[in-house]
Amino acid sequence: MVSDKVSIHGAWASRWVFILAATGSAVGLGNIWKFPYMTGMYGGGAFVIMYLVCIFLVGLPIMLAETLIGRRGRQSPVHSLGALALESGASPRWSWAALMGMVAALLILSFYSVIAGWSLDYIIAMGDGQFAGISAEGAGAAFGALTADPWRLALWHTLFMLLTGFVIARGVVAGLERSLRIMMPLLFILLLVLLGYSMTTGHFMQGFHFLFDFQPDRLLEGVLAALGHAFFTLSVGVGSIMAYGAYMPRRASIGSTVLAVGILDTLVALTAGLALFPIVFAAGMEPGAGPGLMFVTLPVAFGNIAFGQVMGTLFFVLVLVAAWTSSISMLEPAVAYLVERTQRRRRLVTSALVLLCWLVGMGTVLSFNVGAEAKFFVFAADGFHLFQWGAEGGRNFFDSIDYLTSRILLPLGGLAFVLFAGWVLRREAVREELAIDNPLLFGLVYWLIRVVAPLGIVVVFVAELMK
Ligand code: PHE
Repeated sequence: MVSDKVSIHGAWASRWVFILAATGSAVGLGNIWKFPYMTGMYGGGAFVIMYLVCIFLVGLPIMLAETLIGRRGRQSPVHSLGALALESGASPRWSWAALMGMVAALLILSFYSVIAGWSLDYIIAMGDGQFAGISAEGAGAAFGALTADPWRLALWHTLFMLLTGFVIARGVVAGLERSLRIMMPLLFILLLVLLGYSMTTGHFMQGFHFLFDFQPDRLLEGVLAALGHAFFTLSVGVGSIMAYGAYMPRRASIGSTVLAVGILDTLVALTAGLALFPIVFAAGMEPGAGPGLMFVTLPVAFGNIAFGQVMGTLFFVLVLVAAWTSSISMLEPAVAYLVERTQRRRRLVTSALVLLCWLVGMGTVLSFNVGAEAKFFVFAADGFHLFQWGAEGGRNFFDSIDYLTSRILLPLGGLAFVLFAGWVLRREAVREELAIDNPLLFGLVYWLIRVVAPLGIVVVFVAELMK
């Protein structure tokens, strides 16, 4: 029997709202900032193909697993996993996987907020015309000045955390659903406007070839990066999708819904690439700029083409909205968990967690300036140091948290979730939730969840650690 329990936190009005919410979570800095530059770095079309394979063979099975666990459990990820484990006669310690994911999501939020905060600064600088006619050196210096100023970074980080907390505090229906209904259409409109604009730059085909020209010899170069990115971009492995699954209507088919989210996320990434590269080419710049693409190259590009000021401002509004709809999904699992556990008001719990993430995020703020020399995980000639000031190797605070979450916690969480859905839940339960009628198709999807996705994660995880 499909359970007709509802979550105490509320429920989405329809499966469309789940699609909006999950897509809002998935589409973020990962699509607009990371995907285009990674595609540039790993050989364009070759990377795009590997990325698609990873999305469909590993990312989507995890998303299916998370959604069905959430909807069956109808509670926060930690409690859903624990309850379903007991029901299936397994150890309630499975809930630890969700606990780890929840912490990972809060850690991601702490630095995501700092980067998203940059877009607030850029909206104002762009709108104000500060980038008009700017040179590459000028844009580099402007970016350098921003990251060198802890007060300015802290201001934007604070503001972004407040924006995130504001939506979450209002609850699933009045906060999340209502804002998603406005922000998601806005996001798609902005993206299409930018795409339309990039088509008029006269360099559209150049951007197109850059993204899609297939270089078979580079196919394997970016597999690991592609798989890691598939996790991050689909928001899987931390319980965000599981939390949203708990608010999903009973009768919606999980299979087709999740497929829609995966396709939308991929389309947005590809469209962002198609919108950005022609603009970069139109300004006569190089696309292989790496992570600086969005904050250094693009302002130059927008500063030197017709209507660049308006389009550039719109672009950073797009980045802000995309990041905002992702950041709320990082906070929701922990808020839901603490509300269930402590029976306190949602507002109080949200405030406490926002404060916590804000504090941890200050570490990231400082790692771009005064704290840049604080290094963690240092392997030096005299042995391993967890922390050392001014060490040669090692990672600063921001890099450490980024590494810990995306390279370690996310894959582990994702692995636990697919294994749970594939090997702990009964086959009948999975079949019932997925509601895939065709036995062959169900067999295929079930096999992806049980075998292919876990194997893929293990292979990448081990390869990454050995690098
Ligand atoms: N998917 C988001 C992005 O692409 C990031 C994210 C990761 C969101 C984990 C929620 C949980 O930017």
